[in-house]
Amino acid sequence: MLWPNRFVRTGAIAVLATTAAVALIVLSLAPVAPEPRPFTSSPIERRVPVIPVVSLSIDDAASPWVVVNKQRPLAQLDYVPADLVRLDVPSPRQPELRAIAAHAVSLMFAAFTAETGLSLQAISAYRSFESQQSVYAGWTRSLGQSAADLTSARPGFSEHQTGFAVDVDALPATACALQPCWGDTPHAHWIAENAHRFGFVVRYPADKTPITGYEYEPYHLRFVGVDLATSMREAGVTTLEEQFGLPPAPGY
Ligand code: DAL
Ligand code: ZN
Repeated sequence: MLWPNRFVRTGAIAVLATTAAVALIVLSLAPVAPEPRPFTSSPIERRVPVIPVVSLSIDDAASPWVVVNKQRPLAQLDYVPADLVRLDVPSPRQPELRAIAAHAVSLMFAAFTAETGLSLQAISAYRSFESQQSVYAGWTRSLGQSAADLTSARPGFSEHQTGFAVDVDALPATACALQPCWGDTPHAHWIAENAHRFGFVVRYPADKTPITGYEYEPYHLRFVGVDLATSMREAGVTTLEEQFGLPPAPGY
């Protein structure tokens, strides 16, 4: 009779010891909560709409991740975004963007002024197929077609038609408005460093003409959402073509 009891006691001790050992191992392997990142964003920035981390379409013109370039025209040439709203920022015109991008522009301009004491204005934002036709025709008249193709998209190939792109300038206007030399302004420097906080990327970087097909446009900002803009910045990826593994689009 003693043997079975002793057996049970020994067995119980063994089970307890094993359980404790397993618990220790599990605890030591459990993921340690990461150090919270210092939260340096301004109250303005915290109101930027955040697009959840999901994979969005790069083909659908209504998607904030849509990639439009010389090899990727809009699928529907007469596409008009459903929720265009007027930008409530200074502008010589009455530009419109998709609601989420318009909101992000307002917050970005407010943060820019709060952080630099300077001002920005929006020069051009959503453009219909027809307005892109007249913009492109204007550039071809003044520059000739091959130079125009380096700075202006042909109708049906412009991301301005998605309602996610905006061209900005300083307020008051600079002599370099809508030109590569705008990149030397303090406004452009701030944009280059901070646009991602509001969900924008500088869509046509200086060194990526062979990939994007366009010369440096430090003023042309494309809304892709805070998550993607921030992750591209952190990874040092500067074009949507590279981000999504798409072929370069130097020409039509
Ligand atoms: N400036 C850009 C390329 C456009 O016209 O869409
Ligand atoms: Zn533009």
